[in-house]
Amino acid sequence: MGRIGKLMMVAILMIALSMAGTNTFSAQTVWLDELDLSAATQGWGVPMKNRSIDNKTLTIAGKTFERGFATHSVSSLLILLEGKAVSFSAKVGIDDEVKGHDAAAEFELYGDGKKLWSSGLMRVGDTARVCSVNLTGIKKFELVVADGGNGNYYDHADWVDARFEAKGVTTFKTYNPVASEPYILTPKPSDKPRINSAKVFGVRPGSPFQYLVAATGDRPMVFSAKGLPEGLKIDQNTGLITGVLSNAGTYMVTLEAKNAKGRAEKQLRIECGNRIALTPPMGWNSWNCFAHEVSAEKVKKAAEAMVKSGLINHGWTYINIDDFWENHRDSKDPSLQGKFRDDAGYIVTNSRFGDMKALADYVHSLGLKIGLYSSPGPWTCGGCAGSYGFEKQDAESYAKWGFDYLKYDWCSYGNVINGLPDNDPYKVSSLSYNGGGELATAIKPFKLMGEYIRQQPRDIVYSLCQYGMSDVWKWGDSVGGNCWRTTNDITDTWVSVKSIALDQDKSAAYAKPGNWNDPDMLVVGHVGWGNPHPSKLKPDEQYLHISLWSLFSAPLLIGCDMEKLDDFTLNLLTNDEVIEINQDPLGKQATCKQTIGELRIYVKELEDGSFAVGFCNFGLDIAELSYKDFSKIGVNGKFKVRDLWRQKDISTIDSQTGQLPVKVPVHGALLYKFTPQKR
Ligand code: GLA
Repeated sequence: MGRIGKLMMVAILMIALSMAGTNTFSAQTVWLDELDLSAATQGWGVPMKNRSIDNKTLTIAGKTFERGFATHSVSSLLILLEGKAVSFSAKVGIDDEVKGHDAAAEFELYGDGKKLWSSGLMRVGDTARVCSVNLTGIKKFELVVADGGNGNYYDHADWVDARFEAKGVTTFKTYNPVASEPYILTPKPSDKPRINSAKVFGVRPGSPFQYLVAATGDRPMVFSAKGLPEGLKIDQNTGLITGVLSNAGTYMVTLEAKNAKGRAEKQLRIECGNRIALTPPMGWNSWNCFAHEVSAEKVKKAAEAMVKSGLINHGWTYINIDDFWENHRDSKDPSLQGKFRDDAGYIVTNSRFGDMKALADYVHSLGLKIGLYSSPGPWTCGGCAGSYGFEKQDAESYAKWGFDYLKYDWCSYGNVINGLPDNDPYKVSSLSYNGGGELATAIKPFKLMGEYIRQQPRDIVYSLCQYGMSDVWKWGDSVGGNCWRTTNDITDTWVSVKSIALDQDKSAAYAKPGNWNDPDMLVVGHVGWGNPHPSKLKPDEQYLHISLWSLFSAPLLIGCDMEKLDDFTLNLLTNDEVIEINQDPLGKQATCKQTIGELRIYVKELEDGSFAVGFCNFGLDIAELSYKDFSKIGVNGKFKVRDLWRQKDISTIDSQTGQLPVKVPVHGALLYKFTPQKR
């Protein structure tokens, strides 16, 4: 080849190289709607591509958009960028299709676990806000729509004109980092008797007494109780203790359960005085599965399933009817239409219920207890008749029917204070928070009902539901409350469980026997607010959920269809050592004592001087380390470590020198008990 030929070759090579460089390194657009959006998890409905949640044209504040990703708060979409994105830009807002409702949410962007951008609170009608973030070096990217603090029923969130500038790639993978296969941890209960019901029980003098000696083990089983005070008797076949105590006092009773394989004994402390719910209530509530579809028949079936599934033998007790046992303000459904009250102002049930006393008697005959729901406003959150103006009659009805639990839900009460029309509470802006931020108005309706409840001749657990307004944990006890919601409504999504979990430390100091912070009901099993589906939480997320709610001393209310309990869910809800943490008589609530990256270590002091310790992984990677900071979490000296989910001792450690290997799956938890040993 001559000189000219060589020069030409070099020139051609250089052009080719520079062209290759263009292909490999220049930025190109990757539209968000071109990715697989099905990996998104969201509160309700399915993720939508280029259409709104209701399958309409994407519209924000009157402007329409052709491209975008529509989702329902709370929601999360994870995208693997592997450092190949340069930037992301989009406009965000609440879709106009929910105009007229109280819809609000916050859009957030995270890169490798760090917050990159947030829209601030957005309401329906707000013009779209623009986001534009630099993604250089980011490997994992997350789009989150967080709760706008309003109950998130109508939060239809749009990410429109959303796109990446990418280098050398034409698409990105969306993913869910959590393993999907369910796995069983709780060992099968022994065929020998084990008594699982709480070690302490509170009752008021003169109130009907009902405590079931809940026990696992082969049947038939014979129950007895030594030292039962006068007025109480035990049914030796069922273990049900009933009667009435006339005098206040502390009574120590030795419970015994015997079968062909062996016997078990347990001390029960009966506190007859002013306080009830000395351990967090455990049971079931109709809302998270049936919502507006609840009926007496479904409630009966749930109670029967509580027995048939064996859950009753682990201490699960309450069968609580939520909203929609009353008649509705304007429903088209004939079964919800009718008189709200009789001439004397006593509430009338809708035709799906009818005889509430018969229902309560039936549930009691199974060894269970029963609860129901109302609102201090004229209407419940679902638009049924509330208690406003009829609090006395309602409290009397609940007692007359034989109910043991009342959930009292703020909702339309805010409209009363503000003189707003008492139409659809969700149509009024910031419905639930109306007036609830003002201490005196927040307290007033709960105090009123609390007093009427206390005047009844039976013990009724009083559960306040007002989503944590005015720091309810500081005054809930003073109005007779036994538990109070600290949050908005939970959904079966990781974003929901995580954000609720991270928000619980603020109220922890107020938990004590008879007073419990309530981070809302459990979202395991078949849940879905009238349209049940298997919980969208992955198995590890469910282990974390149950571990944390136990550590939090939270009321444990199963929210699923009890007739569709699968092995995994049943196993999750029947670990007696985990439940024991929740039911510990000291009544402390765990707090996060240490954070290592996104691993949070929660510690709960127990009555016997030991500690329940939860290693909870909120991050996107497995947390693996050799843990040795025992003094940081308040554990000193020599102690035994037991894995409560697996019900296995692991090791004995000296806090000065020892190390504990810890490996926590993504979004999972390890729940251990550290028991100090004598040296
Ligand atoms: C509110 C409560 C829920 C449920 C519904 C019933 O949203 O927070 O737990 O009781 O009302 O309408």
